Amino acid sequence: MTKKLSLSSTSPMMQPSFLFGTATSSFQIEGDAEGRLECIWDVFCRQAGAIADKSDGLRACEHVERWEEDVNLIHSLGVDAYRLSISWPRVMHANGEINEQGLAFYKQLIDKLNSLNIKAFVTLYHWDLPQYLEQRGGWLNRQTAYEFENYVDKISAALGERVYSYATFNEPFCSAYLGYEIGVHAPGKTGREHGRTAAHHILLAHGLGMKMLKKNVPNAKNGIVLNFTPCYSASDSPADIAATEKADQYINQWYMQPVMEGCYPDVIHELAEKDKPPIQDGDMETICQPLDFLGINFYTRLHYSAPRNHDELYFEHPHYEPKTDIGWEIHPPALTHLLTSLHQRYALPPVYITENGAAMADEVVDGRVEDNDRIEYYQNHLLAVEKAMDEGVKVSGYFAWSLMDNFEWAEGYEKRFGIVYVDFDTQSRILKDSAKAFKALLAQRT
Ligand code: NOJ
Repeated sequence: MTKKLSLSSTSPMMQPSFLFGTATSSFQIEGDAEGRLECIWDVFCRQAGAIADKSDGLRACEHVERWEEDVNLIHSLGVDAYRLSISWPRVMHANGEINEQGLAFYKQLIDKLNSLNIKAFVTLYHWDLPQYLEQRGGWLNRQTAYEFENYVDKISAALGERVYSYATFNEPFCSAYLGYEIGVHAPGKTGREHGRTAAHHILLAHGLGMKMLKKNVPNAKNGIVLNFTPCYSASDSPADIAATEKADQYINQWYMQPVMEGCYPDVIHELAEKDKPPIQDGDMETICQPLDFLGINFYTRLHYSAPRNHDELYFEHPHYEPKTDIGWEIHPPALTHLLTSLHQRYALPPVYITENGAAMADEVVDGRVEDNDRIEYYQNHLLAVEKAMDEGVKVSGYFAWSLMDNFEWAEGYEKRFGIVYVDFDTQSRILKDSAKAFKALLAQRT
């Protein structure tokens, strides 16, 4: 039997002020576009072994051509908001001036969303750094932060407040750690020194970008999207508990604490001098700008124990069961605990769950995708958010990742996160049962 999504009519998540949406990002759905410059993911996709199915983003969901159909699809779900990202290499020329052809795409897309009463949540950086900047060092080069500042200045001035909410960055952890420290994402660099340097320059760019947003679009809701993977100790031993605390500081609080409080977590003192971030006078003040909202992306948790060799800070265990198709543990209580613990620890601005969702091994049978496993994932995570709200956390909205199956980075097209199925041969879209379940839930609101 098909599962449903259900929340009680008195739930804070069913009230008109709570926003429901779906999310995507430029490189993952757009496909190539005339006049777009190359980005680090175009280059990374060409490296042998980088992408599991050897694919690239040149076609993706052909959203550049099919955007109107996709907006109609979004509208048909009854959502209040749509989270998208802007492709920096599409809207800016290498000389730092606007590429009007590229920008026109986003203007018409956002205008269409607004005409349908769908709020546009725009992320300015969802990983597609222009390759010409990578050739100058990418996020290892402090100058990239100033290039980002110029990009944010020009684009926010041009798009203005037709955009409901701007986020500077999506998941700085992934860009810095996965991209420059362990090399599984573009640009594929490795080394702790590189990871910490990239993270610092991204955080600096966030602060510079926030100042531009405050200047150009003071009435938009401006903030940042961070991903959190709550860290659990594999045992009660003091050594495992201490290592787990370090892991949390290194993978989660490393981004949150500078943004909220203007300093790095204590684990910084354990790093070798050469691995410490290149902090210049005034940087930490720049990074710590007031936020109108904090976006939280949540998928899973991880377990840790004491390090097993001398240059590790902690040992990370493989994911526990039960797992989604991408191999991440399903553990909804970690979302409640994450929200309540951040609420206790920080003076939080309003929070949006900007991503939550699951890759599942979907199959189309007679034109239908019965993804009960995904519906169950969503149901339990919606309840986990509701529980945190009952415990006092102010959550203003929830975005399902993703609107549709798309280019899942190093995993290529084989891991499907959509609530809409995409047949990548024909580019036809099929509402999965999870999309229908969202539609039915949202229709129940008064
Ligand atoms: C995080 C990223 O923001 C998004 O691009 C990605 O597809 C999902 N999580 C799933 O991995």
